[in-house]
Amino acid sequence: MDIIKKVIISEEEIAKIVKRLGNEINEDYKGKKIVLICLLKGSILFLTDLMRQLTVPCKVDFMLASSYKGGLKKFDGKVEIKDGLTIDIKDQDVLIVEDILESGYTLEHIVNILNKREPKSLKICTLLDKPQLRATDIQADYVGKIIPNDFVLGYGLDYDEYYRNLPFVGIINPDCI
Ligand code: IMP
Ligand code: MG
Repeated sequence: MDIIKKVIISEEEIAKIVKRLGNEINEDYKGKKIVLICLLKGSILFLTDLMRQLTVPCKVDFMLASSYKGGLKKFDGKVEIKDGLTIDIKDQDVLIVEDILESGYTLEHIVNILNKREPKSLKICTLLDKPQLRATDIQADYVGKIIPNDFVLGYGLDYDEYYRNLPFVGIINPDCI
């Protein structure tokens, strides 16, 4: 049985979305430099594609955030963060690169941690947004695509750590889980 019930964003559409986001970021940050902070693990493919669209000088750093315990179920608003940043972001223009924004708990934690380091600016770029499930005031400054509440896989997003390598985004087949 196929784990994917339906492909909702094809490889071609992802490329177009990432290109558009890159253009918007290049325009908004003209004459500036950015520190991109990639939230592992789900944002790896998005980061590497997005940074190839950027013409503004950028540095890259990583933090690891997890809120789903291996599968579909969210246990509560608790988020685990492993903060491995090596770049000093004080007075820097910082852009968080995230795979998907849902309740916003993950980004709320990350934003609180990063704001303590006094960046000049702090913005959020998310590939996917499920606004219907928001439980915080977090909004992204750049959104690739708004999607419904279904659990999705691929292009970095996992189910039980698998399927991140799929080149498209698809809805999970409930019969497989
Ligand atoms: P939030 O903290 O509720 O906003 O959830 C965001 C995090 O949950 C994302 O960074 C993803 O890692 C994970 N997540 C949310 N929705 C999905 C999904 O549909 N598929 C896979 N991971 C998801
Ligand atoms: Mg994530």
